[in-house]
Amino acid sequence: MNKTNTALVTGGGSGIGRELCRRFNRDGYRLVIVSLLEDELASVKAELLAERADADILTIQQDLSLVDAGETLYADIKQRGIHVDVLVNNAGFGLWGEHLGIPHERVKSMLLLNMVTLTTLCTKFGADMQAGGAGRILNIGSTTSFQPLPYLAAYAATKHYVVAFSEALAEEMSHHGVQVTCVCPGTTQTKFLSTAGVVPSQKFGSVGYWADKAAMSAEEVARVAYQGLHAGARKPIPGFSNLLHFAGSRVVPNRSMSWIMRQLYQVKAG
Ligand SMILES: NC(=O)c1ccc[n+]([C@@H]2O[C@H](COP(=O)([O-])OP(=O)(O)OC[C@H]3O[C@@H](n4cnc5c(N)ncnc54)[C@H](OP(=O)(O)O)[C@@H]3O)[C@@H](O)[C@H]2O)c1
Repeated sequence: MNKTNTALVTGGGSGIGRELCRRFNRDGYRLVIVSLLEDELASVKAELLAERADADILTIQQDLSLVDAGETLYADIKQRGIHVDVLVNNAGFGLWGEHLGIPHERVKSMLLLNMVTLTTLCTKFGADMQAGGAGRILNIGSTTSFQPLPYLAAYAATKHYVVAFSEALAEEMSHHGVQVTCVCPGTTQTKFLSTAGVVPSQKFGSVGYWADKAAMSAEEVARVAYQGLHAGARKPIPGFSNLLHFAGSRVVPNRSMSWIMRQLYQVKAG
């Protein structure tokens, strides 16, 4: 893939997505960055232009948790005459707490963003890639997909979907010149945790405590994801402890994993 290709990154205004944008930019890609907050989009664009004066950056402010968000974004990109060579489905959020206590409208928005929009974008841009015989898709999964996860029940289930969908799609599309990678990060230092309702804490055993102790940097996660994408990896897992987690989840039954996870996650932060 040459250096003038276009990468579309959802949720590129912060966290892992922003670090991915920096990597694409350094390698000379044109970037289309789609995110919710105008100020974050302006700030990432300024940062990328400071890193490379001739950077080619288009930012689009859009709420990707709306029902037809994927179709709307695809139509916008086609109308601008842009061909997307690399699609990165990074935008996503989690909701922590007892499932029945989480406002259901928030849950529905999360399902739409994490699964429906991702699927629509894979379908629409994937069809274009397949027609051209080339392309790459990077989806962001999670170690939460390795087992059922009490207190992140619906979020973890969305990531089960993302991983299973991506792995099946990778196999189907490999025969058409399109590669699909799904990276599975563990806890990462981004605003994801505060958005999900996890408060940083020094209290031993609290979610905030484990999150703080176990977290990798967004830069390191993006490095593994980016390298995996370009190496044709199907499911890269950043970090040794996350690899151990994955190995454990292959041998320990789901019921036992759920129990272990409940012990780790049930103590409230504070
Ligand atoms: N951090 C972790 O521990 C962790 C672990 C495993 C997987 N992940 C996954 O990694 C991905 C990136 O998360 P992150 O950790 O980098 O967190 P983050 O900093 O909160 O980034 C999430 C991005 O998604 C965007 N976004 C959220 N809701 C949106 C909406 N309705 N429409 C458009 N864009 C929206 C955000 O945009 P704005 O900033 O403009 O709101 C932000 O750029 C997510 O899919 C997450 O599930 C995170």
